[in-house]
Amino acid sequence: MKEQLLKLKEAALEEIKAVSAIDELDSIKVKYSGKKGELTKLLKGMGKLSAEERPVMGKVANEVRELIETKINEKRTALKKIEQEAKLQSEVIDVTMPGKVFNVGKKHPITQIIDEVSEIFMGLGFSVVEGPEVETVENNFDALNAPKDHPSRDMSDTFYFNENLLLRTQTSPVQVRTMRSEELPIKIVSPGRCFRNDSLDATHSPMFHQIEGLVVGKDITMAQFKGTVEMFVKKLFGEETKTKFRPHNFPFTEPSAEVDVSCFKCGGKGCSMCKGEGWIEILGSGMVHPNVLRNCGIDPEVYSGFAFGMGVERLAMLKYEIDDIRLLVENDIRFLEQF
Ligand code: DAH
Repeated sequence: MKEQLLKLKEAALEEIKAVSAIDELDSIKVKYSGKKGELTKLLKGMGKLSAEERPVMGKVANEVRELIETKINEKRTALKKIEQEAKLQSEVIDVTMPGKVFNVGKKHPITQIIDEVSEIFMGLGFSVVEGPEVETVENNFDALNAPKDHPSRDMSDTFYFNENLLLRTQTSPVQVRTMRSEELPIKIVSPGRCFRNDSLDATHSPMFHQIEGLVVGKDITMAQFKGTVEMFVKKLFGEETKTKFRPHNFPFTEPSAEVDVSCFKCGGKGCSMCKGEGWIEILGSGMVHPNVLRNCGIDPEVYSGFAFGMGVERLAMLKYEIDDIRLLVENDIRFLEQF
């Protein structure tokens, strides 16, 4: 019996040695020292032994079981270590490897100008509001005192959906919406898309952006408008920028003026940017026409206001010296990356 035990021990140790995966160890354990294992089978024959031999064999059998279990545990620890090392090896991070390059986008120049202008006016206490691009003829023309025979109302100048609806030709209808819905005093700027029936060329686009401004309250004067515009252009184009007000005509303002700024490239001497003039036109403006106030339910005897509107594409083209408006809608990354 002792011989059988020793054979069994040798066989078990051989098998343990040869194992290369942890779960194989479990089956070896079952095979030799489990309840129905080889060792148990052998020990069942103990009954045939003499009374002296029995404890001796029992001791040997226990030693064999212990040895097998110790070896299995040792092997388990060794295999675990190997497994862990392999895992560590495979997960090694090479900190010297160049990182992945992420292409971070940036704001379109039009958005940059809108943000910059909005921020300047917010600093002056204005709120930013938006209006819909699909407007009523009433808000876009009638309430703004635009006469029935005004050329901008023509089918060939405006995209109509039907008699009453159109793609707004200007951001000015936001004035009407605001005056009709908000409490006085009003101090807003409103950026957004506008549409006119122009074909696309270097200086025209059927879709473009404007920023509208409106202030209405008691005792609002042209002097306040001039002060506001002066602050604005100095912030946008630089402290040395001068302004010039030229009389003009808009249906919704009286008096109306166009505002020119001294050329921020040559400082007013005359260059290609200002076409030798020294001045650059940047916006249309005026005191809100009494008819417009009345159309919006505001008494022109008590309240007054000023309004202005500027083309964003024009500002962007001036500021970034872009000579073709089409570049702003083509969205060529190589172009946009420059701003
Ligand atoms: N809406 C005008 C345009 O598209 C620009 C404009 C001029 C807006 C005078 C105004 C203003 O608010 O007072 O040409």
